[in-house]
Amino acid sequence: MSLHTDASPGLQAVPAEAESVPDGAQAHFEQLLAEDSRIEPRDWMPEAYRKTLVRQISQHAHSEIIGMQPEANWITRAPSLKRKSILMAKVQDEAGHGLYLYSAAETLGTPREKMTEDLIAGKARYSSIFNYPTLSWADMGAIGWLVDGAAICNQVPLCRASYGPYGRAMVRVCKEESFHQRQGFEILLELANGTGAQRGMAQDAINRWYAPSLMMFGPPDDDSPNSKQSMAWNIKRFSNDELRSRFVGMIVEQVKVLGLTLPDDSIRFNEDKQQWEHGPLDWNEFKEVLAGRGPCNAQRLARRREAHEDGAWVREAAAAYAAKQAAAQKTEVA
Ligand SMILES: [Fe+2]
Ligand SMILES: [Fe+2]
Repeated sequence: MSLHTDASPGLQAVPAEAESVPDGAQAHFEQLLAEDSRIEPRDWMPEAYRKTLVRQISQHAHSEIIGMQPEANWITRAPSLKRKSILMAKVQDEAGHGLYLYSAAETLGTPREKMTEDLIAGKARYSSIFNYPTLSWADMGAIGWLVDGAAICNQVPLCRASYGPYGRAMVRVCKEESFHQRQGFEILLELANGTGAQRGMAQDAINRWYAPSLMMFGPPDDDSPNSKQSMAWNIKRFSNDELRSRFVGMIVEQVKVLGLTLPDDSIRFNEDKQQWEHGPLDWNEFKEVLAGRGPCNAQRLARRREAHEDGAWVREAAAAYAAKQAAAQKTEVA
């Protein structure tokens, strides 16, 4: 999921004198951007570009990892073996997305341990959507359809992000996200064609996940100060509102196939702007959740911290094994 856009604090540009810029490096960087080419880890890049990417990619990675929790909550309660194995595969995919993204962020010089420490210390942000509870099985459908759906809208343009390792990670992530979205839609479709109670459960899940999924695109454009710079750097290709409008246009059609409704009477296509419009969103709620005061923030972080502590012996064992291998290799060479 991305999930990063909603969580961007102010750019922390490094003062020019702190950077020693090799001759022609700035011009080369700008030329790569002008040609719409990739910036690779070996290339010189401005510190502000590097910092923005580390923040965005690590927030994205944290979102994938924390995002496993609301769905993992339903693995033991999935209604059939088939649903259980699909959900397990989906949650495992999210773990994989987190790992690709941590690797991409590491190419910018920030170790994964540091990113994990920041997350479990509550210093790093992740998408606010994962701080909402999953109350029924239908939430697995609504998350797949709406949350993974919004993630796809956000992430497809990121496949062309100027930073090579990020763009390439996104290509694979997006392929898996489209499986996630379809599995969610299919869960809802089956519930929508089921008993009255099942239909009601599906509608209730859509009602609860609709607004938070729209807020995944981040604040409105006039309240998103960093977007402009990210677009100038070819990291971001479309504004938050453009992507949100595109997403609304997509789900407004798909919900008809379900025979259910979106909890928003204001959705309409604005012919002049060639854009889908929706009703007001509660941005105060968004800010509260982002600031750590959402319904499940404390629980999500506590669970992540616990998992990290439980995994300490695995990290120690892996390090001991690696040291043993390195020692053996050294003896062999000698
Ligand atoms: Fe994902
Ligand atoms: Fe996903």
